[in-house]
Amino acid sequence: MLLRVLGTAAGGGLPQWNCACPGCSGARAHPGRRRRHASLAVRATEGHWYLVNATPDLGDQIEDCPELHPGPRPRQTPLAGVVLTDAELDHTLGIARLREAAGGVDVLATAPVRRALLDGLHLGDVLGPYTTLRWRGLDAEPMPLAEGSPLTVSAVPVSAKRPRYAAGMDADAALDAAWVVALRLTDRETGGSLLYAPALAAWPDAFQRAAAEADCVIVDGTFWDDEEPRRSGFSTRTATGMGHLPIDGPGGTAKRLAELPGRCLYTHLNNTNPLADPAAPQYEALAGLGLEVAADGMVIEL
Ligand code: MLT
Ligand code: MN
Ligand code: ZN
Repeated sequence: MLLRVLGTAAGGGLPQWNCACPGCSGARAHPGRRRRHASLAVRATEGHWYLVNATPDLGDQIEDCPELHPGPRPRQTPLAGVVLTDAELDHTLGIARLREAAGGVDVLATAPVRRALLDGLHLGDVLGPYTTLRWRGLDAEPMPLAEGSPLTVSAVPVSAKRPRYAAGMDADAALDAAWVVALRLTDRETGGSLLYAPALAAWPDAFQRAAAEADCVIVDGTFWDDEEPRRSGFSTRTATGMGHLPIDGPGGTAKRLAELPGRCLYTHLNNTNPLADPAAPQYEALAGLGLEVAADGMVIEL
């Protein structure tokens, strides 16, 4: 399995357009600190790639990833589709940028995520005159990522946290747990497996089991500690209250990740996270636990 990390920032990116916090100002002063919105590219078969989440940075992310460049024919693209972990704007707005797709776009999503995009964002109505979104379901049952691909994809339900724009949509208790999922990708040829969870509001047993089996786990590193959003003054809620388990502290993810057998990396860093500064002492604390922070452009083979 071949993956490329296309971005590692939470909603807003680093820097965020309207923010002069230390993290964003630091990224303006030092371009090497910039992080695009969290996303991955994964190779399904030779020359056919899927994005995991479609961010507002999608155009630049494609340009920075040679494997996603079009050619050799003028409108031939290796980008076949998008797999979604949730319906949040930072993970879905990029779908609208694919409107030029002459051959349509595969979109793999759970039932509530699909409903949010169709009935909340009206992506189907808006894009219908331009291209075709070919919706495919996503659930706990592994299925081929694409025809002929050695990769299978499945979803591990994580939480019922909905995007704010979908708050008023009818509740469907049976589907609620699938608002936010972790993606499990397994290569039947190499045996390698990835678990990708950029939004972790909780750590359910099924997630723990999947994490313990994965060769590589890439998870929510939005906030360093639970008080960070309140301390930095941009929210009245804690990290957990905002749907992101913090890295550090008693209920934090670092301790749990340190116990896992596979390689573990953080992604989806908010601009308030001290990890926005590469010289932060928090990097040493993570290294001491054997944990990494994913970087934009990183290539992972499993
Ligand atoms: C999140 O990760 O919690 C969301 O992207 C937040 C938001 O954009 O409202
Ligand atoms: Mn987000
Ligand atoms: Zn900022």
